[in-house]
Amino acid sequence: MKRRELIKSTWLLLLGGIFLKAEKLNAEAQYAKTPSDAEGPYYPVHRQEDEDNNLIQVAGQASPAKGNVLNLQGVVLNTQGQPQNGVTVEIWQTDSQGRYKHPDDYSPGQRDSNFQYWGKTVTPADGVYSFKTLLPAAYSFRPPHIHYKVWVEGKVRLTSQIYFKNHPEDKSRFGSRYKLQVTELKQAPNGEFNTFFQIVI
Ligand SMILES: [Fe+2]
Repeated sequence: MKRRELIKSTWLLLLGGIFLKAEKLNAEAQYAKTPSDAEGPYYPVHRQEDEDNNLIQVAGQASPAKGNVLNLQGVVLNTQGQPQNGVTVEIWQTDSQGRYKHPDDYSPGQRDSNFQYWGKTVTPADGVYSFKTLLPAAYSFRPPHIHYKVWVEGKVRLTSQIYFKNHPEDKSRFGSRYKLQVTELKQAPNGEFNTFFQIVI
């Protein structure tokens, strides 16, 4: 190989490498990871009997929880946009009075014995998760939010919080929140709120 040809081939190889790397970065950057957020002081300290994904109906209780019903649905994807199968999504939150079911929560208000306070669900092949819950209330200086953890193979992959655009109690404090942590509420004709929140891990 002549020297000039060798230099040309080397350049082509280098350019090819750069191109492939750019393509890879592009594919990886398709879906930005959902940012993590503080666990906060009220992660459940003891388990409860009913831990399903319907938080407004506790097994054995005749009445549902009090408050605005929220149908929280979403999907868990990886950064390539592929649905994540068999991932556990766990949520915990306040009732409609802004109280957690936690011994360290001394804020005012009566706890709702018909509210489940936390629950979990495992994603099927399409990565979709759903919870029937309440709109959480604002408490202290915090805008309304739902805490969550995503577990993969028994280990926590993500701990974060969901905030709500259009929440009646949100005084727009979420404005400073990273947009990937905010979801939009839509009220259905039956009065229930619906939202879809995508989680990327
Ligand atoms: Fe909280």
